[in-house]
Amino acid sequence: MTSLRAVKGMNDVLPEEMPRWHFVERTYAETMRRHGYREVRTPYVEPTGLFVRTVGETTDIVEKEMYSFVYQGEELTLRPEGTAGAARAYVEHSVHGREGISRWYYVGPMFRGERPQRGRYRQFYQLGAEIFGDAGPGCDAEMIDMLVGFLRELGIGDAEVLVNSIGGSDTRERFKQALVQYLEPRKAKLTADSQRRLGTNPLRILDSKAEEDQAAIAEAPTVLEFLAPEDRAHFDKLEAFLKALGTPYRVEPRLVRGLDYYTRTLFEIKGAKAKLGAGDTLLGGGRYDNMVGDLGGGSVPALGFAAGLERLLIASEASPPPSAPPVYVAALGDAACSAALVLARDLRKSGLSAEGDARGGSLKSQLRRANTLGARFALVVGESELARGVVQAKDLGAHAQEEVSRDRVHEWITARMTSPEGSAS
Ligand code: HAM
Repeated sequence: MTSLRAVKGMNDVLPEEMPRWHFVERTYAETMRRHGYREVRTPYVEPTGLFVRTVGETTDIVEKEMYSFVYQGEELTLRPEGTAGAARAYVEHSVHGREGISRWYYVGPMFRGERPQRGRYRQFYQLGAEIFGDAGPGCDAEMIDMLVGFLRELGIGDAEVLVNSIGGSDTRERFKQALVQYLEPRKAKLTADSQRRLGTNPLRILDSKAEEDQAAIAEAPTVLEFLAPEDRAHFDKLEAFLKALGTPYRVEPRLVRGLDYYTRTLFEIKGAKAKLGAGDTLLGGGRYDNMVGDLGGGSVPALGFAAGLERLLIASEASPPPSAPPVYVAALGDAACSAALVLARDLRKSGLSAEGDARGGSLKSQLRRANTLGARFALVVGESELARGVVQAKDLGAHAQEEVSRDRVHEWITARMTSPEGSAS
């Protein structure tokens, strides 16, 4: 029989890794709360057409990377990203009719059939956020500044912010023409994919990582040279706001992103190159002022970003505060076993993490188990303690032991917990 293993590019996250995940997720939720975002949860599966329409038919994601299938006649796809689903939900529930500006955030798995490598997986987690209803560059700047602060809280010190503008449809049309004019004579030097895209979606060529394409586009015109006046004004204001906020950034006129829905502002934050190598884009985002309208929701500007959670974990130098170790309750003798279970349950009710061991065995073997669990306190209940309503309370960190009355155990533990390990006697 072939052994059953996790699907290539999809990873288990084992319990010992979870404290770091929880730390990043908590820090993110707290950042979101402070900035007025509320959590949204949308399905992992959406109609395939949603991604074709929004992400774009000729993007790598839609052309090559989607987990699509037909179920009972419906064409469905495991979501490769979260923006399209959020915008669909926004339109479907007529949220615009109820509130002027909506700030949403999400955390969850995304699926892309990419070639797995460090920081690139086929199931990966994104932390993302979308703002619907705010057209101004102030909100672009605020989001970028918020993300710089968030990365700092995660202990990611060397983050580099890149910004660009892809403009509105006028700008893009003029830029596309100029790009095609420039690339047409160099067509033979492009990869087959890019040669095809010259006819279908020339902007995607700028996003190619292939060396041949990189060489051909090195001197190509950049979109900033073609910005229409209102796009230029938006970009200038964004820069002014970033400067006022003191947010470090660099204009990168060659920055294009791999999704077709963007308008005007684009940004990425890179970091931890030494640990992430080529896949050092920690997060990316931008404006997509036409998506809600394209989905039938009227004219509602939008902006958002998403970060790869695994990449943040690789880049982060912060260690989460250790969680309080459990209290171990040892039982000596049959009668004490039930008392140990009851005592552990009562300690849990008062908020402690406790483990009652009703498996029996010698005191030595039970204390060994307490050690393995990483417990700082062990409470020993034997027949004589049971009869007298007490426990032998051991502070394993301080190598101290005391007989404590059964109803004072919680008090005894909390008093010692607040004093540093080993200092109480
Ligand atoms: P994206 O650039 O495709 O944008 O992905 C955002 C981030 O997700 C990347 O910067 C990276 O950290 C992470 N990521 C992407 N693919 C993988 C992968 N295969 N393995 C691990 N991490 C990955 C979006 O998804 C847009 N929805 C962002 C957005 C929101 N734009 C506007 N609103």
